[in-house]
Amino acid sequence: MTDSEHANSEETSTSSRRGFMFKIGAGLVGIGGLLIAAPVLGYIFAPAFTNWEKRRAWIDLGEIKQFPVGETVLAVYKNPIFGPTVGEANEIPCWVRRTSDSTFQIFYINCAHLGCPVHWFAESKLFMCPCHGGVYYEDGSRASGPPPRGLYEYDWQVVRSKLYVYGGEIPNLQIPGKTPKDDITPLTVDGVGYLDGKAVKST
Ligand code: FES
Repeated sequence: MTDSEHANSEETSTSSRRGFMFKIGAGLVGIGGLLIAAPVLGYIFAPAFTNWEKRRAWIDLGEIKQFPVGETVLAVYKNPIFGPTVGEANEIPCWVRRTSDSTFQIFYINCAHLGCPVHWFAESKLFMCPCHGGVYYEDGSRASGPPPRGLYEYDWQVVRSKLYVYGGEIPNLQIPGKTPKDDITPLTVDGVGYLDGKAVKST
């Protein structure tokens, strides 16, 4: 092999090594990009793929007469989604605010910041979070502190003088408190389906 042929062959091998390294680098950048994008895409699209039927269900909170008009009281229910095997962790408290004879607001007890249970102070008409000082007005809207939004609310309906909430999965910044209307399964009472307190179909 002449000197010039030798130099050419070395140049070819260096450039093919460079091409190989470039492809590896590009591949690693692509993988890194996917790793960064996956949680962001999950955050954006997760609610669209949530199977609400398996995650939430109608829960009986009892007769509406136990919730006086104008007051906010604590109610506790057993979470039907995670089953009876988790003991007391299955007992879920929520705040029930009765705004008129026929209207309610029902709040998840979890602070919208990092999920600590909020307390209701009737004298000041405020919900307060003991963890980092988050404060909410009586209608659940954010008053001050680190929470990025108001308290999460449940869907609810009154059927035959009983109050029901659509509960199960605890919401967070990705999972809304209220379920998209079209994804709510009717409550069945004596073979009749109910939504918004009205009979919608027989089952
Ligand atoms: S968890 Fe409530 S303010 Fe942080």
